[in-house]
Amino acid sequence: MKTISIGLLGLGTVGSGVVKIIERNQDKLIHQIGCPVRIKKILVKNLNKERDVEVPEEKLTLNPADVLDDPEIDVIIEVMGGIDETRAYLLEALKNKKHVVTANKDLMALYGSELLTVATDNQCDLFYEASVAGGIPILRGLVDGLSSDRITKMMGIVNGTTNFILTKMSKNGSAYQDVLKEAQALGYAEADPTADVSGLDAARKMAILSTLGFSMNIDLADVKYEGITGISEEDLVYSKRLGYTMKLIGLSSRDGDKVEVSVQPALLPEHHPLASVNNEYNAVYVYGEAVGETMFYGPGAGSLPTATAVVSDLVSVMKNMRLGVNGRSAVSPQYSKTLKKPSE
Ligand code: NAP
Ligand code: HSE
Repeated sequence: MKTISIGLLGLGTVGSGVVKIIERNQDKLIHQIGCPVRIKKILVKNLNKERDVEVPEEKLTLNPADVLDDPEIDVIIEVMGGIDETRAYLLEALKNKKHVVTANKDLMALYGSELLTVATDNQCDLFYEASVAGGIPILRGLVDGLSSDRITKMMGIVNGTTNFILTKMSKNGSAYQDVLKEAQALGYAEADPTADVSGLDAARKMAILSTLGFSMNIDLADVKYEGITGISEEDLVYSKRLGYTMKLIGLSSRDGDKVEVSVQPALLPEHHPLASVNNEYNAVYVYGEAVGETMFYGPGAGSLPTATAVVSDLVSVMKNMRLGVNGRSAVSPQYSKTLKKPSE
């Protein structure tokens, strides 16, 4: 029975969760895929950092080639973040015929189309469920569960950090900076939280959702976004008194050939279902012509919820390996290679 070997890029909030789930659920993984899984090598920035999870010292490396060029490694899990350097690593991994699982929306929103093309050309899988809405299986929901329908609109909360901040500020009257620090300590925020609070992180996720939901290549540059930095504690207290709750809302709609995608703070009546989505939780309404209204809800950030999505993608890769269908699986979430925005 062959052991599947994993190369991990990053051992922070999400990476530690991945190690824990692979260790804890080894029996379930073996049951599903028929062979054991081991993490062979882990790329980090600092070898001496104290970590949330115990890993043998010899598994850690500062040299990307130890992971990307090791012929024994079958699958690369990328949970280090960043764009340019990470893109180069993943292109190299795919060209080396390694399957890739990533949680990186910054990268997928900009270079998803290129990476998916290279993956397909190399008969490799590239899965990225964790890049949108943490532990909620929404990408699979769009490309599998709702694949027969025409999606017309998606609306929801897709950033955990800002939802955590807005919840704590309006419920407890906490100060913005204090709650942001709390969100960072809990591992919800990005290494640099500017993208969270400016709305860019949510815009990246809405670009990915819209690309998959509408089967079009939606450019990040076409997503209008605004964050929560201009919102004061007084705004939230006053809104609450009037019966409204402030949320950072992503909205994506399609009317015939016209697509609009945006992210902005919005006041919702307190009885609106999205008004009671609190803390780091996310929720997205997806409207389809045939199905009507559906709602996806769950933890949108954090170590174990996000790692669940990552390791579930790993299971999909390994099932495809067993069937010999990597890179051409019908259920693989793929950007359309042929459909373009109507304006192009
Ligand atoms: P993190 O806690 O900052 O961890 C990043 C890890 O990558 C660290 O172990 C770091 O090494 C390593 N690393 C970073 N840059 C590196 C480089 N240039 N070379 C080698 N190693 C490098 O980040 P995270 O929260 O786990 O997020 C990882 C990815 O998942 C990001 O793309 C993020 O957007 C995405 N994501 C995060 C969440 C979440 O809730 N946190 C949810 C969904 C998706 P050291 O430990 O040595 O510093
Ligand atoms: N920083 C992101 C968030 C992590 O707060 O939603 C999950 O993508």
